[in-house]
This record gives sequence, structure tokens and C-alpha cells, in this order.
Amino acid sequence: MPAQAQEISRRLRRWFARHGRDLPWRRTRDPYRILVSELMLQQTQVSRVLEFYARFLERFPSLHDLAAARPAAVREQWEGLGYYARARNLHALSRRVTRDGDGTLPADPAALRTLPGIGPYTAGAVASFAFERPAALVDTNVARVIARLFAPHLRPKRARDLTRIWRIAEAILPRRGPTAWTHNQALMELGALVCTARVRHCDVCPVARACLTRQREGPPPATRPAPRKR
Ligand code: ADE
Repeated sequence: MPAQAQEISRRLRRWFARHGRDLPWRRTRDPYRILVSELMLQQTQVSRVLEFYARFLERFPSLHDLAAARPAAVREQWEGLGYYARARNLHALSRRVTRDGDGTLPADPAALRTLPGIGPYTAGAVASFAFERPAALVDTNVARVIARLFAPHLRPKRARDLTRIWRIAEAILPRRGPTAWTHNQALMELGALVCTARVRHCDVCPVARACLTRQREGPPPATRPAPRKR
């Protein structure tokens, strides 16, 4: 990892330790629980997922329980989250893994990607967050944060640029898996709380000084000092 990226990662991890939210899927390394959280979080806000996550896991505590369930029961537990393709894929995955495999999720991102509904982001998330493998992960939030920090000319919506952003994510990833876990959580958390799609809260950003967007464009209007009252 380049020296400057190492310092940025260190700052991000220190910030995360202080300001990261205490979320249930950050307290577990159970691959099934991590997978369920990541699928729920794909199109749904954290606050809404929190309402469904515990209930879903109470009803289906393991991949085996899920595999044994009827599709209608799975759909019922997913009701309210929407985007049912996620639930159908999760159910299909549970059956594939328990019937064809040894009943456990693989730790390797490439193996994870062969499973129903698992794209590059989710594969990286399960490898990193459950197995503490040093795997990169780029979702919309992380892509925005990386582009703003390191490559403001890249547009995450363009496929070619997104490939470049993945390369940067891999280049800045700490080699040690447990350190990469915190680094990845911190990148996601920064995108959720500080460097959001709507506003850059550069005034509270732990890496504002190193940020190319901030260097080029200065602070966003919201964080400029208010005009003095006369
Ligand atoms: N969205 C996707 N994964 C997440 C995580 N681990 N924490 C918070 N939000 C997320």
C-alpha cells in the first residue's frame, strides 16, 4: 500500500473506532448473518433493515433452517423490505449450498460470486466482514468516497471508471485481514455519515486534508463559515 494511502487508512480506522455505529452485523462473524445483512442493506436503509434483521434471523437462524423453509415463508419474512428477488436468491443460495456443498459459505470472493444473487460487492463484503479476508469491496457509497478522495475525474456510474475505482480499492486495502475489516467498514461508514451523495461534510471528515476533491473544490457550501451578521 502506498505510504499516503496507509496514513489515510489509519485515520479512517481511528475515526471509525470512535464514530462508527454499533450495528448488529458488525458484532458477528457468522457468514450467514453477514450475508443476510448485506442483501437486506443492498437497496434498503439501515434503520429499516434493523426492523427486519433480528426477526428474520429468529425465524431462520441458519442457512439450513432457511433451506428447509417454504418459499412463501421466506417471502413473508421479507415482506416490507421489497425487492423480493433478493429473498428468492438468498433462498436459492441456501438450498444450493446445503444440497450441493458442505452447508457452509465459501470464504473466497471468486467462489462466493458463483452463488445466486452474489455480485462482486457482496462477495467482497462476505469475504471481508465474515471471514476477515483482505478482500476489497466497492458499492455505491464506497465508489463515491474513493473517487472523491483519490480520483475526482472518475465517474462511478461509468463501467470503465468503476473498474478503475475497484483497482484503487484493492491498492489501498490493508494486507492484514482484520485491519482490512475495519478499513472496509470505515469506508462504508464515511460514505453513509460524512461523505454522502448529497453533501460532503468536510468539516468533520478525518481525511479531508488528503482529499483531492476537497483540495480542488474547497469545502462544500454547507461547511463554509456563515456570513457574519451585521
Ligand atoms: N451497508 C452495507 N454493508 C454495510 C455495513 N456493513 N454497515 C453499514 N451499512 C452497510
